Amino acid sequence: MKGLLAEYKNVFERQLQDILVEYKCDIQPIFEALTYGVTNGGKRIRPALCYLGAEFCGKDSQYVKNLAVGIELIHSYSLVHDDLPCMDDDKLRRGKPTAHVVYGEGMAVLAGDALLNMAFEVMLGGDFDADMRRAIKYVATMSGISGMIGGQCLDLANESKENFGINELTRLNRLKTSCLIRGALVGSAIMCGASKNEIDALEVYAGNLGEIFQIVDDILDRTSTEQILGKEVKKDIANDKRTIVDILGIDGAKEYIKKLEDEAIAKIDVFGEKSQKLIELVKFLSNRTN
Ligand code: IPE
Ligand code: IPE
Ligand code: MG
Ligand code: MG
Ligand code: MG
Repeated sequence: MKGLLAEYKNVFERQLQDILVEYKCDIQPIFEALTYGVTNGGKRIRPALCYLGAEFCGKDSQYVKNLAVGIELIHSYSLVHDDLPCMDDDKLRRGKPTAHVVYGEGMAVLAGDALLNMAFEVMLGGDFDADMRRAIKYVATMSGISGMIGGQCLDLANESKENFGINELTRLNRLKTSCLIRGALVGSAIMCGASKNEIDALEVYAGNLGEIFQIVDDILDRTSTEQILGKEVKKDIANDKRTIVDILGIDGAKEYIKKLEDEAIAKIDVFGEKSQKLIELVKFLSNRTN
């Protein structure tokens, strides 16, 4: 899986470069700041999910290029804004100073805004049919107030709140992280003509995968290092944010991840050979170390 993700990352970096060349503008500071926000490393898991969604439906990475780039632009904007002093106040991202540290807060806000607008411009570029339109609308919903932004809003409300229990945190994680992961995988499957049955199963899989992804992020915030993660650690406690780890402990959180993983696999296993890479992926991401 590691090798496959590295291959997908290479494919993605080329697709992204093509698009950045196309969108270059002559207002240098904003173009530089937005480029910094999206080209400063990153695991590129969401584009990989777009490609896997396409492969699941018998299509390739080229077919979902605009979607993959669009989703990663949205993800990158969310990180630029997430790191701002008014949000998580982080100084390091992907091993480099955060966008607002380099370009100032005002420019970081604008760079995030620009990345989001550019995402939809890219996704709506080229010819598109009814499935593509449906996919892009789905991504808009998944990244909006009933999705990722809604989750970030609950995350702000979580600060210093002892009454955030497992149900509240699950809802928060599913909105702030699962939704964009669903946007990538299910959005891609919709775009590639998946059946209703397949879409329903992939939604459950991606919902669980996103929750796993966030809980691992919360575990690593406690247990890993700045060098390995490329971002500040022990920040959830510093910011007074409760996570599942506070409620279940590290071992309990790992057991919970295993349960989500088994459930995700059971949902897509019925599709046989074509779901094998997704099965490997959820196992890999459940045990990721960065
Ligand atoms: C970080 O996402 C934010 C979370 C949802 C936990 P990633 O861990 O995918 O960040 P990059 O893109 O690899 O930097
Ligand atoms: C961020 O969650 C999720 C987003 C939607 C941006 P975190 O705040 O835990 O992500 P990191 O730890 O800063 O990457
Ligand atoms: Mg945050
Ligand atoms: Mg953060
Ligand atoms: Mg985190």
